[in-house]
Amino acid sequence: MSHDPWRMGFHLMPPTGWLNDPNGLCQLGGTYHVFHQYSPDWPAAGAPRGWGHFASNDLVRWHVVGEGFAIAPDTPDEASGAYSGCAVPIEAGVRFYYTGNVKEPGDFDYVREGRRSVQILVESPDCHRMGEKRVLLRNADYPALCTRHVRDPKVWRAGGAWWMILGARDLDDRGLVLRLRSDDGLAWENAGTVRTAEPFGFMWECPDRIAIDAREWLSLCPQGMARLPWANGMRDQSGYLPLPKGEALGRTGDLVLDAGLFRRWDHGFDFYAPQSFVDESGRTIMIGWMGMPEAPWESAPDGLSWCHCLTVPREVAADADGGLLQRPVPELERLRGARHELAGGTELFLPEHRADVAARRVAAPLELTLDDALAVSWDGTELALRFSDDTVGCGRTERLAACDDLHDLRVLVDSSAVEVFANDGAIALSTRWFPRSDALSLALAGAAASVWEMGDGMAGTYE
Ligand code: FRU
Repeated sequence: MSHDPWRMGFHLMPPTGWLNDPNGLCQLGGTYHVFHQYSPDWPAAGAPRGWGHFASNDLVRWHVVGEGFAIAPDTPDEASGAYSGCAVPIEAGVRFYYTGNVKEPGDFDYVREGRRSVQILVESPDCHRMGEKRVLLRNADYPALCTRHVRDPKVWRAGGAWWMILGARDLDDRGLVLRLRSDDGLAWENAGTVRTAEPFGFMWECPDRIAIDAREWLSLCPQGMARLPWANGMRDQSGYLPLPKGEALGRTGDLVLDAGLFRRWDHGFDFYAPQSFVDESGRTIMIGWMGMPEAPWESAPDGLSWCHCLTVPREVAADADGGLLQRPVPELERLRGARHELAGGTELFLPEHRADVAARRVAAPLELTLDDALAVSWDGTELALRFSDDTVGCGRTERLAACDDLHDLRVLVDSSAVEVFANDGAIALSTRWFPRSDALSLALAGAAASVWEMGDGMAGTYE
């Protein structure tokens, strides 16, 4: 497509093809690396899935590394995909741990039979040159309670040992996390499970460990949630569970968590499979996939040659009562250009569809309307994202987050992505949108706001 108004200026998206989960996030020798699930040949049926790669020195200006796959599904142990995984910086570079997915041809249910889930290690001195692939774990190595669904390793070092958590589905169709321990990150032994007391979905994908100020949280993507009252009918959810004080994921034994404490990362339409990493300055930074595995709405309208993007990097911090805050990394402010003041009851027109809106003096009822098509509003009890124009929402309708006290509101608009943050990052709502006009119109009521035009950090990224 020659003119593509939906290509973004500060969200990572594939040059062409399909993108899903962020993978292998790390900072090495100052450079940030974001790998991701990638099918360059999408929308071709059965397009192979492996890892793509972006790099940046400042979390703002990115470039695509190489062409095609950074990690290709090119061995028999990943014949159906080099699936999600993580990075662990080591003295000699970095280790990538990921899942090789294999679906055997035949008439199988692919849950209890017909599938292999293989954990694979690749070492790299620099995130560019990849070493030999080494199989670490196969289905026979996991506890007998598991189905064939075991994937998405997150690995870290603590207390002189290496630890791994894996997402899994057990034979009772309950989601859980497996924990494993190793002395060297190569030979692993099972070290117990992490579950909830009550069943909480049939499968947990993409487990992650967040550790801040001597507390830990398990980030997880439970599947099978559609009937829960807060689930908006969506099978797949993404959120976190706090561990009791003093508990750690890197321990041997079975840990039981309280599903009642589950909090969603993001209350919008498009958010799944986030991954965190600790950067060289010690910040915990999380990036999510701005897409969903199964959704009743469109994310590549009009035959777009690419599908999905990642969220901006969000710095994660702990709040006072066991919750986590997500704040867009301050580096993004380097993209701020011309500044405008938007008074309540007025409208503003910007030449491009990129803006950073920071609202203050908020009072209910508040409404920020983008292009007369998407409203971010607060009525004193709920923060809402509401599409009034279905050609722009492409099937997205309304999302709500409980909010009886609003202090601040920040809205990042980037061509076809919108991320909303409220109350210092306590609430996030993300959505894709597909506006048809060239200019962005902003109308505000119930607040005053500073609005910055945003630069294009991706210029040159996809050449
Ligand atoms: C989550 C997920 C992971 C898997 C990957 C495959 O979106 O299903 O569990 O590793 O995507 O692309």
